[in-house]
Amino acid sequence: MWEPHRAQGLARVRIRAGPGHVDLSGPGPLHADPAVSACELPVTRSVDTVTVLETERLRLRPWTASESDIALWMGLHTDSEVTEFLGSYNWESTVERLTAMEKLWTTRGHGQFVVESRADGRFLGRAGLNYWPQFDEVEAAWTFRREAWGNGYATEAAKGFLEWGFRTLPVPYIAAMIHPDNLRSKRVALRLGFTVLRSDILNKHPVIVHALYRPES
Ligand SMILES: CC(C)(COP(=O)(O)OP(=O)(O)OC[C@H]1O[C@@H](n2cnc3c(N)ncnc32)[C@H](O)[C@@H]1OP(=O)(O)O)[C@@H](O)C(=O)NCCC(=O)NCCS
Repeated sequence: MWEPHRAQGLARVRIRAGPGHVDLSGPGPLHADPAVSACELPVTRSVDTVTVLETERLRLRPWTASESDIALWMGLHTDSEVTEFLGSYNWESTVERLTAMEKLWTTRGHGQFVVESRADGRFLGRAGLNYWPQFDEVEAAWTFRREAWGNGYATEAAKGFLEWGFRTLPVPYIAAMIHPDNLRSKRVALRLGFTVLRSDILNKHPVIVHALYRPES
């Protein structure tokens, strides 16, 4: 298995991606939490990489299994319009999912982000990069609160994390696995330049697997 890019302390990445453009600036300076002296820093913290992406309107930060993130995740997945193609979550399955997501960030250096409004800090949804070992594929994911649909947020967040993903991960393409009837999600994928790769089954559900290939450098 490849080793993810890891760094000492906290790395902050800023990506500005407006609806019509993506302008990358590289990783900022690494810095440790000033409130904690080096000798007090737990070993696991000292090698954590916290990736924060910023686009024109959005801030993306990794999910954690903290109580506040558990509440955000459960709140997002209580709306039946949001969960139509996803299934719902209770407290236990949320803790399990977010714990697995934390582990994914630690072991592979990618995962999903909490998406917030840069203007007022409002929680808008989730987006980022999953990994499916059964396919050995990295998958782009996007799920937003119902009241946040229709603003281009999913597309803007995806432009940001896809740019970052191709810069960070040695993958030839990133997949998007979409239920055949999920037309809104399909529109997001097509807007981003994904094309159809194959039909498959994911967790017992049919999906159309789309692919976005690594851009020529
Ligand atoms: C899939 C999902 C994220 C798509 O959300 P969305 O808001 O439709 O997608 P975008 O953020 O790309 O927004 C595009 C829409 O915003 C409009 N829009 C408004 N302002 C915009 C702007 N500044 N820039 C771009 N688009 C803008 C577009 O015209 C488009 O509208 P349309 O759908 O009427 O054509 C959302 O439907 C969702 O969360 N679904 C439930 C979860 C889910 O199924 N996830 C996917 C699993 S595979």
